[in-house]
Amino acid sequence: MTDERILPITDDVSWIGVLDPGLITFDIVMETKYGTTYNSYFINAEKKAVIETTKEKFWPTYLSKLKHVTDPSEIQYIIVDHTEPDHSGNIRNLLAVAPDATVVGSGNAIKFLRDQTGHDFKSLVVKSGDTLDLGNKTLHFINAPNLHWPDSIYTWLEEDRLLFTCDSFGCHFCHEAMYDDAVGDFDDAFTYYFDAILRPFSKYMLQAIEKIKPLDIRCICPGHGPILRSNWQKYVDLSAKYASRAIAMPNEKRILIAYVSAYENTTLLAHKIAEGLSQSCDFLIDICDIESMHFSKLEDKIAHCSGMILGSPTLNQNILPQIYQFFAAVNPIRDKGKLAAAFGSYGWSGEASRMIETNFSLLKLRVFDQNVMVKFKPHEPDFERCISFGKAFADRMIEMYQLSCNL
Ligand SMILES: Cc1cc2nc3c(=O)[nH]c(=O)nc-3n(C[C@H](O)[C@H](O)[C@H](O)COP(=O)(O)O)c2cc1C
Ligand SMILES: [Fe+2]
Ligand SMILES: [Fe+2]
Repeated sequence: MTDERILPITDDVSWIGVLDPGLITFDIVMETKYGTTYNSYFINAEKKAVIETTKEKFWPTYLSKLKHVTDPSEIQYIIVDHTEPDHSGNIRNLLAVAPDATVVGSGNAIKFLRDQTGHDFKSLVVKSGDTLDLGNKTLHFINAPNLHWPDSIYTWLEEDRLLFTCDSFGCHFCHEAMYDDAVGDFDDAFTYYFDAILRPFSKYMLQAIEKIKPLDIRCICPGHGPILRSNWQKYVDLSAKYASRAIAMPNEKRILIAYVSAYENTTLLAHKIAEGLSQSCDFLIDICDIESMHFSKLEDKIAHCSGMILGSPTLNQNILPQIYQFFAAVNPIRDKGKLAAAFGSYGWSGEASRMIETNFSLLKLRVFDQNVMVKFKPHEPDFERCISFGKAFADRMIEMYQLSCNL
């Protein structure tokens, strides 16, 4: 699909983004079954400004849209709310056709862009409270860090009452109608995007939402998916709800036992550990064989637990690919400090426990000081060890839970 359309938002502001309906995964792991859009906006003020660019490979379409709205060499400001290359990918190309433009962003954004573009450019560092005079229009900047990188800000166009938020309030949803009231139901994509991209930064999401409360918003213009011209409040409220829920989650009483097993020995250990846990605490025990579990499901389980116990047999002095995948699904920003332990069956060298514990520690989890490793098939004394290990883990979880409730 080639899309040459420019979409009006107000008399002087238009969407000049691109559609990417064929995108299958975003950032390598995030499935995008509805594709996505990279939203860029043009402000036709006395001093012309562009907000965000697009992913680099869409340069030809993007350039033709730009040329449609202005002579690119007349662009004076390029506002960068976030420098992940899905938005900043065409800054270098844009600067080549708009050599007089000043790039405007947070201190981090400008630093990151110098590394990304590999050369110097005119820049202006902005922070909360700063304004930029476009002649007949005024931009205000709002610090909104970690949404979804340390560089992120929001931009408020006072006269048109538009708020540009890049990843915040966006979603991977591609529909050529582009306006929230014209694309049909995209709530599913919105929730999934929040979970996959913004959830680890929930604390920052709530802070940012507080900052935009005083604004008399007409429309929110995010960096992906529908332009929120009718229902922006609904999506801000949903974001607040999801973020609050995620922050409450460390108190959620759920322990994940995840394992793989070739000959069911590790499986037997997993179930005995679960028995020990449930004898000592009322936490919900989520026990699962992760051999063929999809990454996003695994990630969801890890996000929703407050403690995790990971089991692997030792095969060829190593752990299994699914266990490495488990580590990839741990997010230290979100999971830091959760209690974590290892178990597994082995034959002779038994490297699995140390490998699991080392990875947990690198990922900033709190490694439990016990594990259960059993040679080949577990027998009665091993089951007893599993049960007392489960009880000890449960006791520690209860302590941590009570501590977190008293904070
Ligand atoms: C292909 C293969 C390689 C193995 N390599 C090792 C090893 O390097 N070190 C070790 O301690 N055990 C090794 N073992 C033994 C397994 O860890 C042992 O059989 C264990 O009980 C399997 O647990 P499971 O039933 O949960 O799969 C190996 C087993 C297989 C099948
Ligand atoms: Fe991003
Ligand atoms: Fe993005």
